[in-house]
Amino acid sequence: MSNSENHPSLMNRRDFARLAGLACVAAACSSDEGGPTAPTAGGVTINGNTMTLTVGQNPSLSQSNGMVLVSQRSVLVVRVAANQYQALSSVCTHQACTVSTFDGSRLTCPCHGSQFSTSGAVTKGPAATALRAFPTTFDSASGTITVNLA
Ligand code: FES
Repeated sequence: MSNSENHPSLMNRRDFARLAGLACVAAACSSDEGGPTAPTAGGVTINGNTMTLTVGQNPSLSQSNGMVLVSQRSVLVVRVAANQYQALSSVCTHQACTVSTFDGSRLTCPCHGSQFSTSGAVTKGPAATALRAFPTTFDSASGTITVNLA
């Protein structure tokens, strides 16, 4: 006999998962929710665990709140400051929606409003876990951003 049969107020895992799924449908939360507002990154090269892209091919990255989405790896590249970039997972640690907006200092998930700093740290829930941050370097001579995806 399961806990839910012993205690009608308690749900078993299957009931909880079913209700959570219904809540997600009602709230239209999915990984596609809202769609990314970050432009899709152009000129991305991925070689093993090394990803490169250039500011020249991604004009939004020259703006103060610049961000691009590398959808094939679910990675956001944001402009932290002049000549400084950070790559982060675009997958929200709450329920896996795509984090899609960036105001220059905070990234926001459209599904339930979690916010993250440019280092990936949670600054506002409901997410409780940081976004994964990838080591990112910038070569100002060539305008190339290099991300270590390992
Ligand atoms: S999925 Fe809920 S806040 Fe991102």
